[in-house]
Amino acid sequence: MKIRQETSAACLFVCTRGSKKKSSTCKGRGASGVVKAIKKELEKRGLHKRVRVRKTGCLGHCSRGPIILSYPDREILMSVDKKEAADVVDRLQSSITFANRRAPGYRSVGG
Ligand code: FES
Repeated sequence: MKIRQETSAACLFVCTRGSKKKSSTCKGRGASGVVKAIKKELEKRGLHKRVRVRKTGCLGHCSRGPIILSYPDREILMSVDKKEAADVVDRLQSSITFANRRAPGYRSVGG
């Protein structure tokens, strides 16, 4: 039996639900381009093996899409544009950097 060990430091769940023709959904508001831009930015910084980018279904904020749910911070980012990929990765990178320096028992706000 093989056990898959999770080695990622972080994960970004990007809602890509909907139709390209419907601007009321994340897909219609450019979610696929956001995923590509973030993956490209992660690769550029050598973080692609530490950060997973997962396409997901509706996260319940359709009119404000594309929506990204970020772990470990449990943040929801709304109306993300592909031009903001570097900002998303900056934010995540600082979170990863400080994650192993948190006090024992640390819980993020709301977590
Ligand atoms: S379609 Fe993305 S949050 Fe609903």
